[in-house]
Amino acid sequence: MKSDISSKEDIQVFVNAFYKSMTSDDLVGHIFLDVMHVDWDHHLPKMYDFWEMLLLDGHSYKGAPMQPHLLVNQIVPLTKAHFEHWITLFTNTIDSLFEGPKAEEAKTKAYNIAQTWAYKFDYMNKLDKIR
Ligand code: HEM
Repeated sequence: MKSDISSKEDIQVFVNAFYKSMTSDDLVGHIFLDVMHVDWDHHLPKMYDFWEMLLLDGHSYKGAPMQPHLLVNQIVPLTKAHFEHWITLFTNTIDSLFEGPKAEEAKTKAYNIAQTWAYKFDYMNKLDKIR
């Protein structure tokens, strides 16, 4: 029986596992590892704060979540397929580690953000094509 997400330590566990599950030959991992050469010591603490804000009412996250994705999109246009793959990896990570209302909330929030961004990037990239 798995437990639910209930602390910042639990958030660290799923965030670490999520980014570890990415490989440079998959659609999304390739962007983190080969395109953006992400500095994990910088990225992971931001993601702990971000998820703490979404799930446990934390106030440490100070950032602009869309910003780095706009930069990524200039190098690799982000598509629905990227966001769908991101969601599959995220959902599988949560399901492998936790269960309960907070785990469901994490998946729902991630899904809703991914859907909104997928729509925005699709729209922006279509506009760019006809300009
Ligand atoms: C197509 C899928 C995605 C890709 C390729 C992607 C890629 C990235 C990259 C390269 C960064 C910058 C890392 C760094 O250098 O520090 C980043 C930051 C971030 N991502 Fe994503 N991401 C994706 C989807 C998402 C989704 C769906 C969420 C939210 C549920 C999300 C939340 C964030 C946040 C909060 C940051 C930190 C923003 C800040 O600087 O404050 N990402 N992402």
